[in-house]
Amino acid sequence: MWQVESEVDLFNMAPAPAPPAAEGAFSVPRPFVDLARTVIRHRDPERFSLLYAFLCRLRDNPRAMEDAADPLLRRLELMARAVRRDMHKTRAFPQLCEPGEDEWKNMSETALMPDLIAGAQAWETQMVAASVAEMAGGNVTKRWESVCAEAAHCTRCDLYKHATQTVFGEGPLGASIVFVGEQPGDQEDLAGKPFVGPAGQLFDKALAEAGIDRKRTYVTNAVKHFKFVRRGKRRIHEKPNGGEIAACRSWIQQELALIRPELTVALGATAARSLFGKAVTISALRGKGHALADVGEAWVTVHPSFLLRVRDNKEEEYARFVEDLGHIGKRARALA
Ligand code: URA
Repeated sequence: MWQVESEVDLFNMAPAPAPPAAEGAFSVPRPFVDLARTVIRHRDPERFSLLYAFLCRLRDNPRAMEDAADPLLRRLELMARAVRRDMHKTRAFPQLCEPGEDEWKNMSETALMPDLIAGAQAWETQMVAASVAEMAGGNVTKRWESVCAEAAHCTRCDLYKHATQTVFGEGPLGASIVFVGEQPGDQEDLAGKPFVGPAGQLFDKALAEAGIDRKRTYVTNAVKHFKFVRRGKRRIHEKPNGGEIAACRSWIQQELALIRPELTVALGATAARSLFGKAVTISALRGKGHALADVGEAWVTVHPSFLLRVRDNKEEEYARFVEDLGHIGKRARALA
């Protein structure tokens, strides 16, 4: 049984003495330490048991963190995500956090731990004279750099083994539109930048026709490593599977949490699956915005490489893509 000392005090019980250190220490991967550090701030009374259960799993299988489909890992990641979301609210909107604890509980899905509430109040005091935007801007750049550096060593699925490098997103962190592609292609994998190959060139052309300046948008991918099969000297793109999309999801979520765009645009089915957390049909969602937690307004359109491949009605399909981008640009301007 695991208890928090302050919760024990609450019920006038003596805290249990710390258990003696067990023999037979073992190492855990760094991402587990980060995950545990976040999950431990969740109020769910099961958090310790869940972490402990996963720790046992890691002892038996040091690669357990790589199994993105593991329901226990998934539950822990969802808890961590809820905590991060609340911490983000705390930092970005200290003026919302005047609170009485009860108000905090209302606005917070995780019902924050008391130390976090105290932290929020202290933070608020510091922020009185400062502009929220300025402070957040400074933090965002540093945090983005650290997330980007962490992603460069990502081993959450096997794709890192054959790809040249992680291709992280790029663009201004104050962008009001984030475009999400599928995964880097052959040229992106070599250049380390998203959308620089043939699909990227078509994308640039369509953006320009729709009146959107790519340099003012943030462009990234749902999956950060190139997945391919070798045919002779060529590397042929392969679609990422559900496990790979899920394993990579926390990177895009962190990018979005930092940028907090007005609009996030999924280019194609893989990006839409990553944003919506499930497989969706592009034709059913296309042409309008969808409210999505943590993403701003989500828009969905086709992937530029579909336009390179398609044989029937090629020009009409391209025109429709430009039209979608036109609506997206207009909506972003209206929201801004
Ligand atoms: N296709 C994508 O989805 N992303 C890229 O970066 C390049 C091609």
